[in-house]
Amino acid sequence: MNRAARQGAQRRHYALAYAQNETRQARGFTWGREPSALVVELLGALGMRAGARALDLGCGDGRHCELLRARGFEVVGVDFTPQAVALCRRRFAARAGVTVVQRDLTDPGALEGLGAFDVAVDYSVMDHVRRAELPEYRRNVLGALAPGGVLVTVQFDRHIAAFGARDWVLRRGHYSRGFTPRGLAGAWPELTLRTARRRVLDDALAGLHFNAAVLERKVPS
Ligand SMILES: C[S@@+](CC[C@H](N)C(=O)[O-])C[C@H]1O[C@@H](n2cnc3c(N)ncnc32)[C@H](O)[C@@H]1O
Repeated sequence: MNRAARQGAQRRHYALAYAQNETRQARGFTWGREPSALVVELLGALGMRAGARALDLGCGDGRHCELLRARGFEVVGVDFTPQAVALCRRRFAARAGVTVVQRDLTDPGALEGLGAFDVAVDYSVMDHVRRAELPEYRRNVLGALAPGGVLVTVQFDRHIAAFGARDWVLRRGHYSRGFTPRGLAGAWPELTLRTARRRVLDDALAGLHFNAAVLERKVPS
């Protein structure tokens, strides 16, 4: 399967989820509709200044855009699934402070022109990026973080049963991968680990464990 076909298969999975967004968790799609408790906790501890800029990577229907906006950030949400972009735009249509763009975060230069961000949130996006696409994904995220900016990343735990002996699984063309706590921080050697949360059951309905990290881009001295 070539890259276009792989990305197409990934997008179809999400399109299916967002087409039945109200009931998607009952249909087996794992991510919740209310902000993740982990993201709430980790953002709450950051004490970022109001008016700072936040990037919601793979924003979906915008549950974390909502949280970031309420915290006073100017928010940009990015997603490659048209149905997600449409839902997120509709959610904020009558309110200022949230811009939503459709981009594939594994495309070269995907975040160009959006400016620099004080915080970026990745809730379960990197764990759906294949190894071959990871360098571009990382380049995009690193390029978007302002000096002193932080990445809040929450990804599937490596020991979820579906991953078996490997650390990944492909189901009907949809790729998912798990990270150990060390592997999650280690994916970002350019950033400094501020906070880690290990094997947290983040969403009782999905029953899945996640690892989370807050990583900081140092201000050059
Ligand atoms: C598991 S969902 C999580 C959605 C959102 N982060 C949340 O917490 O509600 C993953 C999201 O990432 C998006 N996504 C996955 N791979 C992407 C990519 N390469 N570029 C942009 N968006 C992507 C999907 O469309 C989907 O909305």
